[in-house]
Amino acid sequence: MTESRINEKVAVVGTGVIGASWTAYFLAQGFTVAASDPAEGAEGRLRAWVDGFWPALETLGLAEGASRDNLSFSSDVAVAVKDAVFIQENGPERIDIKRAILAGIEAAAPADTVIATSSSGLLISDAQEGAKHPERIVLGHPFNPPHLIPLVEVLGGKQTSEESVQKALDFYTRIGKRPIRINKEVKGHVANRLQVALWREAFSLVENGVVSVADIDTAISQGPGLRWALLGPFLNLHASGGDGGITHVLEHIGPAQREWARDLGEYPETDDYIGPMAAGVDAELEGYDFAETLKARDQLLIELIAAKKQAPQLP
Ligand SMILES: NC(=O)c1ccc[n+]([C@@H]2O[C@H](COP(=O)([O-])OP(=O)(O)OC[C@H]3O[C@@H](n4cnc5c(N)ncnc54)[C@H](O)[C@@H]3O)[C@@H](O)[C@H]2O)c1
Repeated sequence: MTESRINEKVAVVGTGVIGASWTAYFLAQGFTVAASDPAEGAEGRLRAWVDGFWPALETLGLAEGASRDNLSFSSDVAVAVKDAVFIQENGPERIDIKRAILAGIEAAAPADTVIATSSSGLLISDAQEGAKHPERIVLGHPFNPPHLIPLVEVLGGKQTSEESVQKALDFYTRIGKRPIRINKEVKGHVANRLQVALWREAFSLVENGVVSVADIDTAISQGPGLRWALLGPFLNLHASGGDGGITHVLEHIGPAQREWARDLGEYPETDDYIGPMAAGVDAELEGYDFAETLKARDQLLIELIAAKKQAPQLP
C-alpha cells in the first residue's frame, strides 16, 4: 500500500477539458485537490466530468484514501493554491492570459511550490516572463485525456531552475505518470511534432492520390500503430534488425529510407486540403456511429493501459 496523500494538496487552475481530467487523476492518486476556474457553472461541470472519469480510474486502481469527496472548488485562485504542494495550470492557451493566471497563482502560492503549465504550444520562457519566482515554473504537458494517458512532457524555460524540473519529473513519476524530459524549447514540444511529421506525409499521400484516408488509417491502426503502443519507434527498429539490432537495420535499410525521406511531402500551405480530408473521414465512417466507435476505443485504451502496467518487460 502506498502512503496516504490525503494531507497533500494539489491545486488545479483552469478546469476545462484538461484541468478536469487532471483533477480526476490527482483525486484517484489519493490527493486532496483544490480546483479553481472563474467561469460560470465551472464547479458543476467539473464534478460531472470527474464522475464520468471515475469508473475508468477505479478500473485502473485507486490509491489509498482516494475519493471524489477530497475535491474542493473555489472561483478564487488564491484559495485553491494556498498551501498547495504542486500546481497544475490549465487555463486558455494565450500568452497574456497565461501570464495573468501565473501572477494570480504566485500571489498566494508557497514561493517554492512548482507550477506546471499544461500548455500545448506556448514557450515556457515566454510564459514565465515577469513572474516573481520564474525558477519554479515548468512545462507539464499532458496528452489528452491526462487521467488515462501516462505521458507528460516536462521542460524548463530560460529562467527555470534545474531543481524545479527535477521536482516536476519526480512528482509525475511518483504518481504513476511517464514523464519525459525535453532539453530544449521547440515549437509543439516532442510528441505533437512526431504526430505532425506523420500527418504531413498522410495528407500528402492522400492529396497525391496514392491512397485513401480510410486506408491510411488502416495502415497505421492495423499495422505499425499496434506495435507503437507497446514499444516506441526506436525499439521497434531495433527488433527489426534481428541479432544485429538497430545498427544492422539502419545499415541495411537506412540508404533506402534516406531516398524515401527525400521524396516525402510538405505540410499543405493553404487550407484547400481540409475538404478532401474531411470527405475521406466521412467515407471511412459510413455505417459507423462515431460515438460508439469512440466508446469502444476508450474501453480498449483502458484495457491496454491496465495490461501494460502488468508487463514490466516493456520499458
Ligand atoms: N485539449 C487538449 O487536447 C490539450 C492537450 C494538452 C494540453 N492542453 C493545454 O491545456 C490547457 C487547457 O486547454 P483545454 O483544452 O482544457 O481548454 P478549455 O477551454 O477546455 O479550458 C480552459 C479553462 O480555463 C478557464 N479559465 C479562463 N480564464 C481563466 C483564469 N483566469 N484562471 C483560471 N482558469 C481560467 C476556462 O473557464 C476553461 O474552463 C491549454 O494550455 C492547452 O494548450 C490541451
